[in-house]
Amino acid sequence: MSSTDQPACRDDLGALSRALLAVTEQTSTREVLQMIVESARSLVGSEFAALGVPDEQGRFAEFYAAGVSDEQWRAIGPVPRAHGLLSLMMREDRAYRTRDVQTDSRFSGWPSAHPDMRGFLGVPIVDCGTILGSVYVANGPDGGDFTAEDERLLGILAAHAAIALTRARMFERDRELTLVEERSRIARDLHDAVAQKLFSLRLTVGAAEALALKGDHERAHVEFTSVKELAGAALDELRAVVTELRPPAVREDGLVPALRKHVAVISRAHPVDVRFRSDCDGRCALPEAVEDAVFRVAQEALHNALQHGQPAVVDISLSTPRGKVRLTVSDDGRGFDEAPAVEGGHHLGLASMRERARRAGGRLRVESRPGVGTTVELEVPVE
Ligand SMILES: Nc1ncnc2c1ncn2[C@@H]1O[C@H](COP(=O)(O)OP(=O)(O)OP(=O)(O)O)[C@@H](O)[C@H]1O
Ligand SMILES: [Mg+2]
Repeated sequence: MSSTDQPACRDDLGALSRALLAVTEQTSTREVLQMIVESARSLVGSEFAALGVPDEQGRFAEFYAAGVSDEQWRAIGPVPRAHGLLSLMMREDRAYRTRDVQTDSRFSGWPSAHPDMRGFLGVPIVDCGTILGSVYVANGPDGGDFTAEDERLLGILAAHAAIALTRARMFERDRELTLVEERSRIARDLHDAVAQKLFSLRLTVGAAEALALKGDHERAHVEFTSVKELAGAALDELRAVVTELRPPAVREDGLVPALRKHVAVISRAHPVDVRFRSDCDGRCALPEAVEDAVFRVAQEALHNALQHGQPAVVDISLSTPRGKVRLTVSDDGRGFDEAPAVEGGHHLGLASMRERARRAGGRLRVESRPGVGTTVELEVPVE
């Protein structure tokens, strides 16, 4: 007898191991689902395989198939929403095996282009009592039938598929959460870093234009120099936001020089007396995260004072009493009632300052009295 006359000997364990590896290696839900279908088909050597994932109403939220060509797939038409037998299987936590699916009392017919199927085996994918989906194979290798051994193998694959699917969904949820966090970081950074510079830039351009129209080219030239400086700073900030770097000025110069420079640039754009003092010039070694928070809070508090307060003076002070760093930004502007302003959905500044304080392990206090002025105080403990 030549070797080709031997009955095909299926290396069940090898096939099972390959199938399990293929399924459990995937990290995205889509890939896991697609791999379950393909692995199921090669595991039992069937002509077709499919997989359905139920929605809340027990209909197919998703449906995957293997063994059907793209052309056939298109000809069959829309994916079944709730196929009689298949949808029943998504509600029942047990396997179903038959020699001829078309003789089943629950069989409800097919679209005309549907391939002919007889031997059928369906196994639920269950995780902790929840049916995540069902995997089906049709037309087995030996005359179309499936054996009890096929059922056992597919059951093992389904059990592992359930774990892989649950894990992939957790990964995806994690990734979504990270994305949401990332989006709010970018919003915060754009707001705090770039929006303020553009605000000052617009004012400065206006001033330069007015001077140029009056023919005072010398002073217009000075304003335009500020415009260039502000535009350059906005660009640096934007780059830092995109590449997730620290505030460029702090990174390059250190906290105190960066604050001093910021105050100088902003003062030129606004007719307000902005004062800055610090008790730790050149010798305040703070953790990077604390420096960044202090800088951003100072930027936004100053910006708010200039944008909303119409103050004559803004005082910024940085002090380092034992075990902490304290920043205060006080203005003698018109002040505000905190409650109604905080509720407005598009006001990011105060919320952003609070969030930065929280992340740095500190706290933010905002005190404002209408007609008197506003003080923002950030305090962060440091070792
Ligand atoms: N120093 C201040 N003087 C007067 N009013 C202020 C001052 N700081 C904040 N406010 C008021 O509080 C509101 C909320 O400030 P917040 O920074 O959260 O938002 P915004 O400045 O309006 O908008 P955004 O900061 O998102 O550009 C402001 O609209 C303003 O009415
Ligand atoms: Mg603001």
